[in-house]
Amino acid sequence: MGMLLEGKVSLITGAGQGIGRGIALRFAAEGARVGVLDINAAACEHVMTEITQAGGQAIALPANVTQGGDVRNAVHTLADRFGWPNVLVHNAGVMPSGRIDETGEEEWDRTFAVNVKGAYLTCREMIPMMRQAGGGSIILMASITGVNGLPGLAAYSATKGALISLARAMAIDYAREGIRVNTVSPGTIDSPMLHRFVAEQNDPARTRQAFDDMYPRGQVGTIDEVASVFVFLASDWASFVSGANYAVDGGMSIYSMQPRM
Ligand SMILES: NC(=O)c1ccc[n+]([C@@H]2O[C@H](COP(=O)([O-])OP(=O)(O)OC[C@H]3O[C@@H](n4cnc5c(N)ncnc54)[C@H](O)[C@@H]3O)[C@@H](O)[C@H]2O)c1
Repeated sequence: MGMLLEGKVSLITGAGQGIGRGIALRFAAEGARVGVLDINAAACEHVMTEITQAGGQAIALPANVTQGGDVRNAVHTLADRFGWPNVLVHNAGVMPSGRIDETGEEEWDRTFAVNVKGAYLTCREMIPMMRQAGGGSIILMASITGVNGLPGLAAYSATKGALISLARAMAIDYAREGIRVNTVSPGTIDSPMLHRFVAEQNDPARTRQAFDDMYPRGQVGTIDEVASVFVFLASDWASFVSGANYAVDGGMSIYSMQPRM
């Protein structure tokens, strides 16, 4: 099999670290040209260098996904450099914890701004370019919390549910233009986001074990296991896949926990 993403020009938000970085590296390894967008400019440069040193093609696009002007500049810079973009991954996200009565107004607004408005702004800029490219694939990063109830993640869960609904609406709206739209809903992934959350708890080792125990295989997922699904959805192998929400959680969301005997 040749490289799966040869000829693709992709924009990946939140690609400076964690899962987004993993997706960027895998896309480049599969032949895609990659726009590495992140609010952290140094991280963007670092990932771009990692890709180019491995023989891939990438451009660093420091930008804040909540700012329309930033997003427009980033998308135009990408198109000027690599041609019409045809793959968008909106992965940038923030995850404050808290139940609804513990969530401040600013935190609520910030969570929706990065997770949901970021999707709106990137899609709004990318869709006209995808038309020029003759079609494309949009993949929004949701989460298992967008469908399943998890405690203490109210605002975050609401944003992820919104992304799943947004993807379904866009999948219908743009189908005739050859633009597919899907969401990926990972379970817990061994990532900086998880490490930060675990480190903040009273007993980090116990918390980490509790996360692993939620999964039928006894272990959370890896960044590469998530990136593989993004490669598939971005590729032409997924030409009849649109409006779908892929759970990437090792069966956690269909797991009815039994008491341990
Ligand atoms: N880690 C998990 O277990 C897990 C599980 C399910 C879903 N997710 C989702 O995957 C995505 C990535 O998660 P991660 O664990 O890699 O997180 P992370 O915090 O390690 O990385 C997020 C990246 O997004 C960037 N970012 C944040 N705000 C931004 C903004 N306004 N503009 C541009 N970039 C911005 C950050 O600088 C960072 O590089 C998130 O959407 C998250 O909700 C993560």
